[in-house]
Amino acid sequence: MSNVYLCTAIPYVNGNPHIGHAMDYLLADTYARYRRLIGGAGDEVRLSAGTDEHGNKVFRSAESAGMSVEEYSKLNSDKFRNFINKMDVTYTDFIRTTDPEHARRCQEIWQKLTPHIYTAEYDGWYCEGCERFITQKEYDETNGVCPDHQKPYERLTEKNYYLRISDFKDEIREQIENGKMAILPEFRKQEMLNLLEDTPDISISRPKKQLSWGVPVPGDESQVMYVWLDALSNYITILGYPDQDISEFWPATAQFVGKDILRFHAITWPAILLGLGLPLPQTLVSHGHVLSNGQKMSKSLGNVVDPMEVVERHGLEAFRYYFSRHIDTFVDSDFTWEKYDEAYNNELANDLGNLVQRLATLCNKNEISGIVTGDYKDLDPKYVALMGNFEFSKAFDYIWSQIRELNKEIDQSKPWELAKNGETARLRTVLYDLVAKLVRAAQLLEPFLPDTSASIYRIFGVDGTIQRPETPLFPKD
Ligand code: MSP
Repeated sequence: MSNVYLCTAIPYVNGNPHIGHAMDYLLADTYARYRRLIGGAGDEVRLSAGTDEHGNKVFRSAESAGMSVEEYSKLNSDKFRNFINKMDVTYTDFIRTTDPEHARRCQEIWQKLTPHIYTAEYDGWYCEGCERFITQKEYDETNGVCPDHQKPYERLTEKNYYLRISDFKDEIREQIENGKMAILPEFRKQEMLNLLEDTPDISISRPKKQLSWGVPVPGDESQVMYVWLDALSNYITILGYPDQDISEFWPATAQFVGKDILRFHAITWPAILLGLGLPLPQTLVSHGHVLSNGQKMSKSLGNVVDPMEVVERHGLEAFRYYFSRHIDTFVDSDFTWEKYDEAYNNELANDLGNLVQRLATLCNKNEISGIVTGDYKDLDPKYVALMGNFEFSKAFDYIWSQIRELNKEIDQSKPWELAKNGETARLRTVLYDLVAKLVRAAQLLEPFLPDTSASIYRIFGVDGTIQRPETPLFPKD
């Protein structure tokens, strides 16, 4: 199977998209574009996205907004979809967990899992912010307050259905250890292996009187499916499971998730898949969090950054640039408006924008014609290794070092002096060499900055005389 299937986490619709939500999409889109770039005849690249709409968290937010939960979910789901469109993410599928097809398929999944399901009384803690059952050990370690949501855990005493995780622990451990299901970055892999040891069987339902907004448990009117079971299933119901054969796309090539929800993807999700007799995803890519001014974004701190505002400020390419390069792929990184403006002016406008203008001007004055593009099959091996290992921010740094190098080369070779001294042959060699290198760098940029890359091809990549663009690629503020 040479198809590529990439999945992004589906956000809750209890609020508007913020810049943190951009990460799953950007990483998946960059990889999708990279796989299309390296190609292979017949490979299809599929990228799934969607929204997670059930559960009490969403239900209560709808109530406080004074809207019906259906209307509210639709409104916010549309906002996420607009956001993904605005970011030019090349997704191929979009799912809402309230789609009736999805709900029906989840019920079938439940039925297939019955040999691994039992009922028992749950008497313990729950965090509604995380939509997660909390063990006594976690409760004690956090003094009963969720560190992510700063809210005390609720005490629940209720009858629930459980999924017997213990049936699958050995297999999950083995597949994580032997890399059949790779977890990136490496330090998270160990974290998940430790967590797996402590994971008890998982409750997969809530009594309907506590949670009405969800998929009904088949054959038991009094219970509704736990929101994570419903949400995780999206990765296969979107492909048509269980009605359709999904083997052309499943197992997923990679799933992109934030560090906070890796545990669901590294433990709960594999248990569900093994219970269904399906293979585990090939790779889980877990990214860090985007901080705002060094702190976690929260409404109460008033530091939530609206991604649309970021896009408006310097355009989409600048947005993609900052979040792919300056937000590290794997660990927490900071966004501030100052850093963003600095990166735009010093790097996009100076390093790259000026390079393009200077080189186009020199070529134009000296009647150098464009170089045909798109035939560089032998991509730089260092870049290929980094991209293949999902080391996107490092790969981007590597491209940038080449761009800086090109600026130095212009300064050192001084083509304007060669022109002044009438050294035409040397001048042509120097300029052709610089253009060829720039066009090659543009090819490496394609997965990250598709429009910029296309503009560079347009300016330098045709046979006619190279024209200096009327407006720079990244006009300075
Ligand atoms: N609904 C669940 C996911 C279900 S997937 C079957 C959920 N939703 S979420 O809205 O809280 O988060 C969606 C994604 O955004 C997750 O990958 C999460 O890690 C990511 N992020 C949320 N805040 C973030 C930052 N501040 N920074 C980076 N990513 C963050 O969890």
